[in-house]
Amino acid sequence: MIGVFDSGYGGLTVFRELDKKFPKYDFIYFGDNARAPYGSRSSETIYQYTEECVDWLFRERCRLVILACNTAAAAALRRIQKGPPAGGPERKVLGVLIPVAEAVAASKAHTVGILATEATVKSEAYIREIHKISPDIKIIQQAAPLLVPLIEAAMIYHSDMSRALKKYLNPFKTESIQNIVLGCTHYPFIKHLIQAEMPDAKIFDSPSTIPAALENYFSRHPEIEQKLSKNGARRYITTGNPENFEKFVRENDLFPTATSPRVEKCPLI
Ligand code: DGL
Repeated sequence: MIGVFDSGYGGLTVFRELDKKFPKYDFIYFGDNARAPYGSRSSETIYQYTEECVDWLFRERCRLVILACNTAAAAALRRIQKGPPAGGPERKVLGVLIPVAEAVAASKAHTVGILATEATVKSEAYIREIHKISPDIKIIQQAAPLLVPLIEAAMIYHSDMSRALKKYLNPFKTESIQNIVLGCTHYPFIKHLIQAEMPDAKIFDSPSTIPAALENYFSRHPEIEQKLSKNGARRYITTGNPENFEKFVRENDLFPTATSPRVEKCPLI
């Protein structure tokens, strides 16, 4: 079983692509909707929430958990990976941030704009990871605290969204940024709006990067890949309201292969 974790709905943008690329594998999607957004919380709180959810996924027999949340990956991935292996040494935790940073660093980009949550911007994790590979890339970061709450509230086409986007993208326009990283897995839901604001910009995001990165990981770690169960099972877990979750997922056409998905309430909180 593979666990895909996010603070809320954002990781579904990654899960949708994983579902297509790996139809036979068993997956649990976990949204901590009751405590979303994470992005304006302290790094210690984000770490604690993430660790709790990852532990829960391990107890549900996940052998591999993907933090499909940049905020959680920036605040918690290294600490979780370094700590005593939760659920035993055979359990692994991966994040979405490093593969996206690597994709940008490997591109011929000279200047890059990182659009992310406050916590991800503050962590400077993207700057660190990109500069490890390409130290000369000029990076401008922009925190966008209003975007996740608007997406979680299904207000993608509300005037508050277009106002917020104009404000957040303005520094990138001023600097003529041509490459933008969607440093939050919620933002692919509004990728078309971002692209409309900046039609010439090349956009990097997790959904277009992570499936190939996971395939590459499997080829380097067959001992992990071989132990993953493959019955095509899909479970959806939320700490929030399962009806709201199901409505959001249906309205955004996010149940691609599972015909009658059941959303379960997580007893964790
Ligand atoms: N999807 C999360 C991310 O990638 C959103 C964080 C939040 O809950 O604020 O950063």
